Amino acid sequence: MKKLAILGSGFGSNFEAIARYLKDVEIICISDKPDAYILKRAEYLNIPALVLTLDEMEKYFSENKFDLVALAGFMRIIPENILSKMGRCINLHPSILPAFKGKDAIKQAYLYGVKVTGITIHEVTPELDSGRIIAQYPVIINDSMHYDELEETIHRVEHIIYPQVIEKLLNGE
Ligand code: GAR
Repeated sequence: MKKLAILGSGFGSNFEAIARYLKDVEIICISDKPDAYILKRAEYLNIPALVLTLDEMEKYFSENKFDLVALAGFMRIIPENILSKMGRCINLHPSILPAFKGKDAIKQAYLYGVKVTGITIHEVTPELDSGRIIAQYPVIINDSMHYDELEETIHRVEHIIYPQVIEKLLNGE
């Protein structure tokens, strides 16, 4: 069975979308925040979960190997010494990179006034939101669209696209 580690620091809605979508994949949830809601989701989905500091991750990923590590709302830059132990590591970002890197990307795009934004799935490198792009999906911003509506649309798109991309990568496509 393929092994997938999902790392998140917060709400965990993408973790839940991925876990519900994938079949016959061994998943582990890892959070750097002991009080993150993603851990509650892991509990009710019956998925093993761990709380690890970034420092503890180096040893963990040296000793535990995965077919893929997927970041889903993991809000830390992972240094090279840890990345090199993880194997393939991908991230989901809520904008069309290279536009609007970093935090609050949906808000950055909305306030800038772009007419098209979207999501990006990319390889993780030690440089923020900069690795090779694997997939992107656009979201049109209508003139009448409120910020909340855009945020909701982006999340809906993330919950559909990210699980599909992860499945393809796990299948070697
Ligand atoms: C998602 O919108 C994801 O794109 C974003 O954090 C949110 C996590 O939501 N990631 C980044 O901004 C990474 N730079 P979730 O915890 O409900 O899955």
